[in-house]
Amino acid sequence: MSESQDVLFRSFKLGDLTLPNRIIMAPLTRSRATQPGDVPNDLNVEYYRQRAGAGLIIAEATQVSPQGKGYAFTPGIHSEEQIEGWRKVTAAVHEAGGRIHLQLWHVGRISHPELQPNGELPVAPSAIKPQGAQTYISAESGMVDVPEPRALTTEEIPDIVEQYRIGAENAKRAGFDGVEIHAANGYLLDQFLRSDSNQRDDDYGGSLDNRLRLPLEVVEAVVGVWGTERTGIRVSPTGSFNDMRDADPVETYGAFAKRLNEIGIAYIEVVEDSFQGNLEKGRPQAVIDIIRTNFTRAYIGNGHYTADEARQRIDAGQCDLASFGRPFIANPDLPERFRRGASLNEWDSSSFYGGDERGYTDYPALTASD
Ligand code: PHB
Repeated sequence: MSESQDVLFRSFKLGDLTLPNRIIMAPLTRSRATQPGDVPNDLNVEYYRQRAGAGLIIAEATQVSPQGKGYAFTPGIHSEEQIEGWRKVTAAVHEAGGRIHLQLWHVGRISHPELQPNGELPVAPSAIKPQGAQTYISAESGMVDVPEPRALTTEEIPDIVEQYRIGAENAKRAGFDGVEIHAANGYLLDQFLRSDSNQRDDDYGGSLDNRLRLPLEVVEAVVGVWGTERTGIRVSPTGSFNDMRDADPVETYGAFAKRLNEIGIAYIEVVEDSFQGNLEKGRPQAVIDIIRTNFTRAYIGNGHYTADEARQRIDAGQCDLASFGRPFIANPDLPERFRRGASLNEWDSSSFYGGDERGYTDYPALTASD
């Protein structure tokens, strides 16, 4: 297929950023930040630099505050050291011709006192323990069940919004091109959005409007820092990971998409089919359709796409761009491989989380003769 015909290599204006291709690197937790301090390091610089051929890199989920941390070895964006570490990452990606957003993360109830300031309980919309949810707390203890969280008081909510606002400002200082708000996969904002995990009876729970309130306040705060053109969001309407469910995903995400559209952020990335578990088999087409209808800016589809499936879905108007996770772990030059129709390296899931350069920066790129 010639390049001009290949829809994956048709450039795209994402907000006010021009992307040379439609192949997005999905945010991927790799748990390799320097300790203590959760600081991005030279190995992380090399990993992202290798992947700068993506239309856009969405860097891994990054805690906006100490309270927002849920796993050992994940990076933060709340200390000067972390900002300095990320600055080296963004400079390397830009030097290599790429673009990179940061994913802003607060895990809510998916944490553990051992990871929390002063050994406190993790916080959530409601004191509901997610059944079967675990987190990795240390090399010694490994994966453990998360405890029943503490419900945030109404008075604490403005500080949560402030944590995201500061994270957004720090991301700007670190040289990112924009940010993606993590509202997926059972973390804090998802816990507020979905009816099963949000049983509050104040302004932040109960009715649909109330469940949307905190996520929308966070979006407004982040837009206040970055503007609409450089702000995106990630949702997982039917993902079951971290014991999530919602009574009516079409209603919840249809309404959320509508409100996001009114604010006018640049994109929504939708986890349509999660490798961590989906409540529906395959893609939840009714939810996809209502989001696509109610949100008129860019739609990034995610979940088990092959290159050809991405082409077909873009051609059919079901998404504008596609993000790839595990294929990008194993193929630093994924766009080039798609362009050439080359074979892909296989990923080794044993090195997804934590460790050194093995299974991180040592996956080979194609050579000129491949
Ligand atoms: C994980 O660390 O397992 C993880 C982090 C962020 C996600 C999903 C999974 O969105």
